[in-house]
Amino acid sequence: MLPITEPRTDRLPSEPSRRFSVAPMMDWTDRHCRFFLRLLSKNALLYTEMVTTGALLHGDTERFLRHDETEHPLALQLGGSNPADLAASARLAQAAGYDEVNLNVGCPSDRVQNKMIGAVLMGHPQLVADCVKAMRDAVTIPVTVKHRIGINGRDSYEQLCEFVGTVRDAGCTSFTVHARIAILEGLSPKENRDIPPLRYDIAAQLKQDFPELEIILNGGIKTLEQCQEHLNTFDGVMLGREAYHNPYLLAGVDRELFGSDAPQITRAEALRLMRPYVEAHLREGGSMHHITRHVLGLGTGFPGARKFRQMLSVDIHKTDDPLGLLDRAGELLEGR
Ligand SMILES: Cc1cc2nc3c(=O)[nH]c(=O)nc-3n(C[C@H](O)[C@H](O)[C@H](O)COP(=O)(O)O)c2cc1C
Repeated sequence: MLPITEPRTDRLPSEPSRRFSVAPMMDWTDRHCRFFLRLLSKNALLYTEMVTTGALLHGDTERFLRHDETEHPLALQLGGSNPADLAASARLAQAAGYDEVNLNVGCPSDRVQNKMIGAVLMGHPQLVADCVKAMRDAVTIPVTVKHRIGINGRDSYEQLCEFVGTVRDAGCTSFTVHARIAILEGLSPKENRDIPPLRYDIAAQLKQDFPELEIILNGGIKTLEQCQEHLNTFDGVMLGREAYHNPYLLAGVDRELFGSDAPQITRAEALRLMRPYVEAHLREGGSMHHITRHVLGLGTGFPGARKFRQMLSVDIHKTDDPLGLLDRAGELLEGR
């Protein structure tokens, strides 16, 4: 077992550490959100929202790949199941400077299911393996897979092992396991993140049966103490909703999980560091709300927090001095 404060060293120097990551989340982990999260932790691996191969190859490619240099280490998540399209998309990701490309085998939405994207692919291990192989042949950056522990009708541990084993045989060495099954009919994506029970024991069994693979645990993790605990079993942890709703949690990640002795950034400093970024976005004609909607979570757990959130979610739509409002909101964070 590795000591909990030391990152793994048994990887290529170019490979990002997956000891702690923030999950891909549609509409949430856009480039503005990631810029903000990066201020709080230098070591967390950040994932983009899922981008489908169709959107990337036939849509506004530049917009989908756009990111700030400071966002690294950064992984692009792809949705798709056509090996050639995924290979072409992975090539674009590498050319744009991403540190990893990840295949989504966990999203249960009907919209993507019908296009053979996401969790439905858990029923097609060989196709996922073909996709991974095509992507690996196309790029030198790591290709990883994020998946569930099963789907309705295909939820036995043997089937999970068949999935992981088949994809491993195509060369994938890192699996991020959202430790619950997905129900592909009858539950919304949101319900599919809460209703099927979390089964950390199954993810742990997977790590035991595939010790050579990197297994990252995802689902329901809320504190750094829980992260420390899970890191006794798993190679890494991925946090989604908690990282978004309570982003200041990330400010402790470098010290608690990576052994850094750099001083921890304060909430107020983090918001101050957003100011030039907001200014640049306003100059481009953007709205401050595009950015500040992601910082609302800084206002949790202290007196005045509600006022902070109100300023940046309600008052923001009425002001003609957005930067002044940002500064005043920042004052509420001083000393917190
Ligand atoms: C708003 C939202 C959007 C999501 N979008 C994606 C996505 O694009 N790709 C993906 O693999 N998972 C997506 N997920 C699932 C998360 O990555 C994660 O697996 C899930 O929320 C469980 O982790 P948590 O309990 O830490 O939130 C999304 C989750 C949320 C809340």
